[in-house]
Amino acid sequence: MKPKVMVTREVFDEVLDYLSQYFEVTSNQSDIPMDAETLGIKLSDKQGAMITISDRIDVALLSRCPNLKAVCNIAVGYNNIDLEACTKAKVIATNTPGVLDDTTGDFTWTLILATARRLTEAETYLRAGQWDGWKLKQFLGLDVHHATLGIFGLGRIGQVVARRAIGFEMKVIYHDIRRMPPDIEESCRARFVSKEELLSQADIVTLHVPYSPETHHLIGKAELKQMKPTAILINASRGGVVDDEALIEALRSGTIAGAGLDVYENEPKFNPGFLKLRNVVLAPHIASSSRATRYKMAMLAAQNLVASLTGKIPPNLLNPF
Ligand code: DGY
Repeated sequence: MKPKVMVTREVFDEVLDYLSQYFEVTSNQSDIPMDAETLGIKLSDKQGAMITISDRIDVALLSRCPNLKAVCNIAVGYNNIDLEACTKAKVIATNTPGVLDDTTGDFTWTLILATARRLTEAETYLRAGQWDGWKLKQFLGLDVHHATLGIFGLGRIGQVVARRAIGFEMKVIYHDIRRMPPDIEESCRARFVSKEELLSQADIVTLHVPYSPETHHLIGKAELKQMKPTAILINASRGGVVDDEALIEALRSGTIAGAGLDVYENEPKFNPGFLKLRNVVLAPHIASSSRATRYKMAMLAAQNLVASLTGKIPPNLLNPF
């Protein structure tokens, strides 16, 4: 008998076909998110699950799923998985690193350019029929070329963002928990600085750190105050890295000039204060969402699941035990 697995959200047909070669697959192709209660019921008789960032895998869930052997996230970030609890329960956990770096880096640049040049604000004005002709001082924005880009987290995605900055002839500074090796700094043309120097020097601050207790509210009221009033903040990492309430206040009061956001605290119920602001570009967590990349992410998660349940070490194992 084939092992039973669940795919908790809609994926591509090819991914289901691949999984069906190995497993009896139940899939939620209706794509309606499941609450913790429903997820627990659905996974209670399964050996494996392909999950997404909205599925919380914790002690409570694991205690209801005695047959579960593997949970495979369709995401590089895995703050929805309690790794310690998985290891204790001998449940393999995996993620999808590598395949989304370029696409997420590209989208970071989408946010940088749209925010710096006030694209959402200008388009809203035009769509509302308010445009009555060219004006010298209309929607004056921030120049991206030759500006200083400050990157928090020079991991895979941070490096992609830094390399793209070379074309804009920018000065790139970065901060991370540890300094990167010289070859990486060289290829990114990035200089390591303190958190304080980054915040006070950068015209554009962009965040590329994972979410954890250490990075919770990495950017809050005090940090926003240290930024230039002309600067913009970009977040395509995780909600919770920024204190959204503090950011809304900073955008409202002019502490900083603008923000471009793809992620929020308490997604998808984000703070309605953002909707009242003109100087923020808002996206619904789509940084990795190109057709090719989302396909690769789903297929990689499926490969991780197949390896995990056929006695092999999955390519992206998070918790060796
Ligand atoms: C990730 O991979 O962590 C993304 O946020 C999901 O698109």
